Amino acid sequence: MNFTHELLKWYAQNGRDLPWRATKDPYAIWLSEVILQQTRIAQGHSYWERFMQQWPQVNDLAAATEDEVLRAWQGLGYYSRARNLHTAAKQIAELGHFPTTYNEIIKLKGVGEYTAAAIASIAYNEAVAVVDGNVYRVLARYFGIDTPIDTTEGKKTFRAMAQAHLSTTEPAAYNQAIMDFGAIQCTPKSPDCSACPLVETCFAYQNHKIDLLPTKSKKIKQRERKFQYVYIRCNNHIAIRRRGAGDIWQGLWEFPTTDALSVPLASLHLLQSNAKHVLTHQIIYADFYLYETATRPTLSSDFIWIEESEIDKYALPRLMEIMLKHLEKYH
Ligand code: ADE
Repeated sequence: MNFTHELLKWYAQNGRDLPWRATKDPYAIWLSEVILQQTRIAQGHSYWERFMQQWPQVNDLAAATEDEVLRAWQGLGYYSRARNLHTAAKQIAELGHFPTTYNEIIKLKGVGEYTAAAIASIAYNEAVAVVDGNVYRVLARYFGIDTPIDTTEGKKTFRAMAQAHLSTTEPAAYNQAIMDFGAIQCTPKSPDCSACPLVETCFAYQNHKIDLLPTKSKKIKQRERKFQYVYIRCNNHIAIRRRGAGDIWQGLWEFPTTDALSVPLASLHLLQSNAKHVLTHQIIYADFYLYETATRPTLSSDFIWIEESEIDKYALPRLMEIMLKHLEKYH
């Protein structure tokens, strides 16, 4: 059984029909990859289409303001990705053309090994293998590799394996095949191995190790934080402020927290307590309050008052959107 050949055959029959697969435009492919790092394919579709409509070419994106880009990104989270995307678009505009090789593409702001390999292979057919979570899983299971994927050794091992099994004649198809295969067939939980074309030679299946591969050396430590947010409504106006550098959500807008407000907790209406919100390195537990008042409370000078209906003009962290959902539910 030839692993690469079987994957390509599987992909020809089962590969997903995605709009960005109908193009070789590196800009369109880059956009799709950056968006898909943030969200599932189903949701990624609409973001990709909106970006392509709003900024059909990389020069259009380069000419946008950062605020416009952040707003288009709203809902995807990790706005540093949107900022990097914008910075890289400006780099490309400056360069005068989209870079055409892996070594050039990886120099772009925010573009790492995965994204550079995806663009170089899919747009330019360069023979460079992608390694993402799907690739780790498929290779670890099929070949029976138990080196932890979150170690330097693991990363090196899996990268070499991915490269060794890459189809050099069809790198674009191969890379997308192994990712689709991981997403659809070789799923993290309860894969349907009875329907798998590789089952007979799959190490994990034959050795009852599907649930044990791939392995990780440790769980990342996450810092826990508690926030208490207040939606202050005063004559159809609300208070928000822009977060500064040096912590999460740089440049995004948020509602006041209770410590910014000198009113007793008892005068606030609790909308939701202890909403859990998971970021890469932090777990946030948030309480959401509503405070309706006829007189504006004094707040520090970094707060601004805006019309309540204007809130969707501001880029908000996901947690603030969740708070607005609780507010809607209350009304
Ligand atoms: N996930 C992210 N990018 C992908 C791609 N190009 N093909 C399949 N799955 C993906």
